[in-house]
Amino acid sequence: SAAEKDGHDWFMRKEIFEQPRAVADSLLGRRGEDGLLQLDEMRLSDQDLRDIDKIIIIAAGTSFYAGMVAKYAIEHWCRIPVEVELASEFRYRDPILTSDTLVVAISQSGETADTLQAIRHARVQRSKVLAICNTNGSTIPRESDGVIYTHAGPEIGVASTKGFLTQLVACYLLALYLAQVKGTRFGDEISQVMDQLEQMPGHVQTVLDKADEVYALARDHVDSRSVLFLGRHAGYPVALEGALKLKEIAYLHAEGFAAGELKHGPIALVEEGLPILCVVPPRGRDQLHDKMISGIQEVRARGARTLCLAEEGDTTIEPYADVLFTLPQVPVLLQPLVAVVPLQLFACELASQLGHDVDQPRNLAKSVTVE
Ligand code: AGP
Repeated sequence: SAAEKDGHDWFMRKEIFEQPRAVADSLLGRRGEDGLLQLDEMRLSDQDLRDIDKIIIIAAGTSFYAGMVAKYAIEHWCRIPVEVELASEFRYRDPILTSDTLVVAISQSGETADTLQAIRHARVQRSKVLAICNTNGSTIPRESDGVIYTHAGPEIGVASTKGFLTQLVACYLLALYLAQVKGTRFGDEISQVMDQLEQMPGHVQTVLDKADEVYALARDHVDSRSVLFLGRHAGYPVALEGALKLKEIAYLHAEGFAAGELKHGPIALVEEGLPILCVVPPRGRDQLHDKMISGIQEVRARGARTLCLAEEGDTTIEPYADVLFTLPQVPVLLQPLVAVVPLQLFACELASQLGHDVDQPRNLAKSVTVE
């Protein structure tokens, strides 16, 4: 009923709008009185964590994209090598696992069979397993050595939204916690990043307040046959997630690319009028932002219609954006938390306009309990 959906037409839309709260709840109580990070159900000792020499993140679908962001954060902040692997592939390649490997399983439901089988395989090889999960008492956290629970509340829509944002939060917390335990050079900045994370619910709300801009854009694209998504760095998994959302609920051909890969093939797809959603990284000291702008110039010169998400005040993008949606100014590693929100709204509105059942897309189940 509409009441269960807080007056929204779909659970998915309701859940998108719950994200500021979900992010805030997932950050709650993580700092002790001494200012240090504490993860209550971590259950892995500091010594165990200091011994870790490699992390392998395993997950499926949207949770896998959260894992891709986690790799960027953990490697940058903690200097521990991280691999991210699809749960369904992991076991079958005879992965190298030791007791100093930390396997991180990310699963909203905690019941995904591919992910469950992957952690069972890891534990047989004596690796430590940490779950990032939204469902209390589900199978994956029960079979893990420790867990970081996300606090999204129940996610009903088959397309994951608040599940994803809270997984990102948990991944940042894990990365910061590892940096704290390992005492990396980055140590001094941990509380600064925590402060920035605590600003994120407000930033997500700022994006949601402009939902109508995204809905108008979605309505302009109901006749599109294909949509591409481009991103770089932490924006790359955002592009992949934007494309997955569109496939899942709008049944539209959609593909995400790392912008730097365009010239290695995908640019051949570009033709007059092809919509390309571009996640522009924040302006920083490195060349990331400028490289993205030149990628956008390239596709636009070949006729693409560029729909750009860029931070507030970024005027360099203006000449190359057919449509510009501004995002709050946040650090590049945290940008997925705000950049993915318009892509969720876009898919939800487009699917809705096409008359699809947004909460129960064809051929899909909320949790995939078969391998
Ligand atoms: C997301 O929109 C999907 N429905 C799907 O990719 C999902 O993220 C995947 O099946 C993993 O589920 P889990 O997080 O519950 O393990």
